[in-house]
Amino acid sequence: MGRKMSDDIAKVLLTEEDIQKKVKEIGAQITQDYEGKNLMLVSILKGSVAFMADLMRAIDLPLKIDFMSVSSYGSGTTSSGVVKIIKDLDIDLHGVDLLIVEDILDSGKTLHYITKMLSDRGTASIRIACLLDKPERRVVPLSSDYTCFDIPDEFVVGYGLDYDQQYRNLPYIGVLKPEVYENK
Ligand code: IMP
Ligand code: MG
Repeated sequence: MGRKMSDDIAKVLLTEEDIQKKVKEIGAQITQDYEGKNLMLVSILKGSVAFMADLMRAIDLPLKIDFMSVSSYGSGTTSSGVVKIIKDLDIDLHGVDLLIVEDILDSGKTLHYITKMLSDRGTASIRIACLLDKPERRVVPLSSDYTCFDIPDEFVVGYGLDYDQQYRNLPYIGVLKPEVYENK
């Protein structure tokens, strides 16, 4: 018998229903706040793809989307503090009301760097929407404008979030069994 992905999960932190309900609420809030604006969503690859796909469909406004890829983590579970741009945006940011879509706000280093860099490109405004926030872990002073869930300082996977590039396709957010790390 082959191993199933779900066999590696010790506990479910947020169910599919929890996530879908909250993302719709945040989408409705963004719809209110950005009426008449020049909204563009920028998803930071790859962790935010699931959130981006659901959030953009929960916003009932004309908008553009784009993707950016940076690397701040290796295969471990702690921040290296190094942020490298792997894929930049295709769309010009002049006059754009930019909403950065991120999976998780941890130390804040990645988003701090990205926000600073993008604000130099003529944006009309910049805000952050993140799925998860671990406020206890913050190293750089930064807060999210739209946060779906605050979570405790625990390493989580699923709904886009990975451990060593795996588990992004779990439809919920969970914590891995300790033996998954031990067997590495
Ligand atoms: P920061 O620069 O420390 O805020 O790092 C944020 C990035 O770290 C996220 O975009 C994730 O890729 C990764 N990360 C932080 N915590 C977790 C976690 O619990 N699970 C999976 N990835 C995480
Ligand atoms: Mg990430």
